[in-house]
Amino acid sequence: RKRILSGMQPTGTGALHLGNLEGALRTWVRLQDEYDMFCFVADWHALTTRYHEPEQIRKACLQVAADYIAAGIDPKKTTIFLQSQVKQHAELHLLLSMITPLGWLERVPSFKEKRELMQEKGEGDESISYGLLGYPVLMTADILLYRAHAVPVGKDQAAHLEICREIARRFNRLYGEVFPEPQALIGEETGVVPGLDGRKMSKSYDNCIYIADDADTVARKIMNAFTTPTKIRKTDPGVPEQCAVCQLRKLYDPEGYRVSWEEDRAGRRGCVQNKRELIDILNAYLEPMRARRQELLADPGALERILADGAERARDFAEQTMRLVRAALHFS
Ligand code: TYM
Repeated sequence: RKRILSGMQPTGTGALHLGNLEGALRTWVRLQDEYDMFCFVADWHALTTRYHEPEQIRKACLQVAADYIAAGIDPKKTTIFLQSQVKQHAELHLLLSMITPLGWLERVPSFKEKRELMQEKGEGDESISYGLLGYPVLMTADILLYRAHAVPVGKDQAAHLEICREIARRFNRLYGEVFPEPQALIGEETGVVPGLDGRKMSKSYDNCIYIADDADTVARKIMNAFTTPTKIRKTDPGVPEQCAVCQLRKLYDPEGYRVSWEEDRAGRRGCVQNKRELIDILNAYLEPMRARRQELLADPGALERILADGAERARDFAEQTMRLVRAALHFS
């Protein structure tokens, strides 16, 4: 059986948002019956920007794991674990860092973006660490450690996957074939899920709807979301590309979206109606997941056991890979 791996960072409270869910997690759930799946929580990655809040990261890990399961990941079929509980990630990261040209890392768009974001927030150059630059190398280690054939991620991770493939090729060329070249499985239909302000949904923009949000929070957020700025009256025409509410509607209810645009063009539809309908759609969709995550978080001991069990399975596989890697590098 082919192997699939993917992960998410436990940033902020750790709650996952609709971008994480539609961009990646849905695909994981779909693939878990057909493939050997590894899904992990990238807690070391979270330290690349949040090194000052390790306690919060640890708490957030349980939230991420709960959301994985609430969305449909089955711990019996899929190995769920925390990156930090499988030390082989660190060993492989170190070895891969020796064969990764600095220029590749400096060109990664997400590095440039994070640097700009941190500078905007007034954090000086000293908050931009060596670890942040090496982010894609650690991610490569995550993937190659399980000799994964495919990696389901959102579009924003494409550049990271490209580096991963280049590092794998380089390793194989230098030391012999150890790693398959992992394919990126990018959900093209979903693309980038827009946030409440129309930009990409992202914790760093504070424009997210979370799986954990209760019905009132969803309602409040949607009522305040961006719509077409030039549509003041009901009869003014909307511009679907500019309207976050419409983009979300399109994702969750394509038929309703089509009808609502016909009405819009005929001057019979206002933004408030669009918002009310979207609130109902989202709440109906999220309610079962909300309930499930609450149940899971009510028993943190059981969640910790799932993670411990997953880490053990992951370590077994990771250690097999490391034996091959150490042999290839004459360390065995
Ligand atoms: P992270 O935690 O930023 O995001 C987790 C997943 O959610 C997807 N995603 C989105 N998809 C569509 N629209 C959006 N608005 C949106 N926002 C987030 C991301 O593409 C991602 O698939 N570097 C990774 C974590 C990681 C990883 C790995 C992933 C570490 N090691 C190894 C795969 C394999 C990250 O920061 O994802």
